[in-house]
Amino acid sequence: MQRTKQLHWWQRGVVYQIYPRSFQDTTGNGVGDLQGVIDRLDYLADFGVDALWLSPFYPSPMIDFGYDVADYCDVDPLFGDLAAFDRLVAAAHARSLKIIIDWVPNHSSDQHRWFLESRSRRDNPKRDWYIWRDPAPDGGPPNNWGSFFGGPAWTFDEATGQYYLHQFCPEQPELNWRNPDVRAAMYDTLRFWMERGVDGFRMDVIGLLLKDEELRDNPPNPDAPPDLPENDLFSRLHQVHNMFLDENHAVMREIRAVLDEYPDRCAIGELWGPLEEWVRYYGPQGDELHLPFNFRLMDGMAWNAPQMRASVDAMEAALPDFAWPNYVLGNHDRMRLVTRFGGEGPARVAAMLLLTLRGTPTLYYADELALPDVPIPPEKIQDPQGVNLGPERTRDVCRTPMQWDAAPNAGFCPPDVEPWLPLSADYETRNVAVFAEQPASILNLYRRLLAYRRATPALLGGSYTPVDGGPDDCYIYWREDGDSRCLIALNFSAEPRAVTVPGLKGQLALSTHLDREGEAAEGEIELRGNEGVIVAVGAA
Ligand code: GLC
Repeated sequence: MQRTKQLHWWQRGVVYQIYPRSFQDTTGNGVGDLQGVIDRLDYLADFGVDALWLSPFYPSPMIDFGYDVADYCDVDPLFGDLAAFDRLVAAAHARSLKIIIDWVPNHSSDQHRWFLESRSRRDNPKRDWYIWRDPAPDGGPPNNWGSFFGGPAWTFDEATGQYYLHQFCPEQPELNWRNPDVRAAMYDTLRFWMERGVDGFRMDVIGLLLKDEELRDNPPNPDAPPDLPENDLFSRLHQVHNMFLDENHAVMREIRAVLDEYPDRCAIGELWGPLEEWVRYYGPQGDELHLPFNFRLMDGMAWNAPQMRASVDAMEAALPDFAWPNYVLGNHDRMRLVTRFGGEGPARVAAMLLLTLRGTPTLYYADELALPDVPIPPEKIQDPQGVNLGPERTRDVCRTPMQWDAAPNAGFCPPDVEPWLPLSADYETRNVAVFAEQPASILNLYRRLLAYRRATPALLGGSYTPVDGGPDDCYIYWREDGDSRCLIALNFSAEPRAVTVPGLKGQLALSTHLDREGEAAEGEIELRGNEGVIVAVGAA
């Protein structure tokens, strides 16, 4: 077990995800930008997070809102320029905030010059930088793979008579990671940003990099829901030959070696899949990702104490000694936390869970406002997933603008400008300025949790020990590092529960209701509905 004082920044720290389009507009076009992030750094530093992860800001046709990169080494004019990025890094570092950027290695935009060259002629030197194949004998696509966003994963190029692979939009052709020149060029993009002071990368769909060399058909998915939209070819198949290939791991180690050329940089990867596949991405010697994102408390998880505990315990048991845990409860691809877990009561308990488990938490902007999914009128849907697979699949709902104050457009953009996505209807009362003034707001709960976590060795580097025998709908655990000891007791039910912990003698350090600090806790704790508490024991 690593003790708190030996931890790296990415182990002690809390990551805060910013979706730059939606954080702060400073140019008056209804879309957020890098200067907007700079202008809000004081808020973020004061809030108490340690690192900012910025979703893509690269030049892009924005078909997938920046996950279609047209140049890996520049900034889209919509967001600013490289000088603005440099100012952002300097201003963040001046406030002890780290900067993590999104790196999208699996696919580029079809407008990237590499793809334009690749597509121009079969004998172009860059032809093999992407995945081109002849049509099947019947003229159709080379195999049966489907796109995550609907339709086949192949598009035919009339001019050169071959198909190219794209598991997202047709405008997102997949790079050929079997080609050493592609790997070398992509590694240089990592160096480019590390030279500019970037502290880490969140690597997009990293489990997809290598595909089956023969591009074999995927077998049918026996668990496919019967009511899939007709064009959802992806979910109809069992994803065997297109993800989590063993060959990914050698590439992961190369990527990590590039990061290790620079001191203390952090490799985070977007990964889902079964626990036993996921855990392999730490590398056999801890030489792949530092933090393969752990989505297990989010994906398919109801607000249920035994299930959450089982997920944490299974992950803790699966981790090798060198592997550092991490948890994610929301991001730009998933339903908002407060909507998923059923209201602000559970969302407060979820905040305490996320910030007290062992490992690095990643927060999603505006979760500190308990911002719910914002309904988007069908004609305003912009996300390609929603456009192609139906309104109920759109991710626009969780990407709406940050709400700063009660002014028209919530301080996100000027009052006379239409924000790129609507604000929540209650933005005049649900915003940072209003919540900052309410002592018991969820914003202040997050602040208190972040401050307490930062000051408490048990929460930073301490061990995790679940407590058995409490009420079924409560989740109770110890965090301990030497003299620093805390008990966390979370009531997942809306009804009061009594939690008995023999020998417990301490003081309430925090309640999710922010009204019991300092109360003595001896042997038994009475929890109100949807209440979580941290009990400090000894010198916590
Ligand atoms: C990742 C991103 C998602 C994007 C997709 C394709 O899942 O998080 O937003 O659409 O990759 O790049």
